[in-house]
Amino acid sequence: MEFTEWEIEMTPIFDTHAHYDDEAFDEDRDALLSSFPANGIGKVTNVGASLASCEHTVKLMHNYDFLYGAIGVHPTETAELNEENFRRVEEWCREPKCVAVGEIGLDYYWDEPGREIQKKWFVRQLQLARELGLPAVIHSREAAKDTVDLMTQQHAEEIGGVIHCFSYTVETAKIFLDMGFYLGIGGVLTYKNAKKLVETVEYAPLDRLVLETDCPYLTPVPNRGKRNCSLNIPYVVEKIAQLKGITEEEVRRVTWENAHRLYSIPIQ
Ligand code: NI
Repeated sequence: MEFTEWEIEMTPIFDTHAHYDDEAFDEDRDALLSSFPANGIGKVTNVGASLASCEHTVKLMHNYDFLYGAIGVHPTETAELNEENFRRVEEWCREPKCVAVGEIGLDYYWDEPGREIQKKWFVRQLQLARELGLPAVIHSREAAKDTVDLMTQQHAEEIGGVIHCFSYTVETAKIFLDMGFYLGIGGVLTYKNAKKLVETVEYAPLDRLVLETDCPYLTPVPNRGKRNCSLNIPYVVEKIAQLKGITEEEVRRVTWENAHRLYSIPIQ
């Protein structure tokens, strides 16, 4: 994407949820990441999903000043967890640039691993977040009730964090907002069938929204179908600005502040 001079003057973007460890970036990872600071992408949180991706996330946060890490095991990967390798997750979480535990949660779109396994490791990782004083990055798909129930039981309002790629109704958004959580908004907002998400973005206060790609997935229109990366976030900014009736710069400025608050990163 090309940027005009005026755009470079704008507040940079914080991509709060990316997967640059993914093999989709094997060919050009360093060239792409190195291009971000000059192209309006100020900071990125790379989010672990499996043990291997957590290990890769640690390397990325060592290699790039502007890149932070979230360490955790995604619900669909929890079958690989046991007490021994869970201690590795805990060690990685103690890295100085690890700013959150995630992504963790429940995903009932898939039958495997079973719900009891997913729930067990969701709770263990929420407890880890509490112990370490880190926010949680939550992945919840087709599992709204159990997610809310477990978060309520575990007093997630004392842990805080973000509901990444929020995909439920306004009523459910209200429950998460009442618990003090942020909502992660990405490319899905630009899709034609995004009615529920449009309603949620209209409803939610701007100071509780953060921008994300979930790249390489969920590329916004007009690039849908291609590999996603942080350079596409301006399309999401544009859509939020339209829905809220404010300028794109205001969306950038407020979400930049929100992301720093979410991950307890100093703004400079
Ligand atoms: Ni993700």
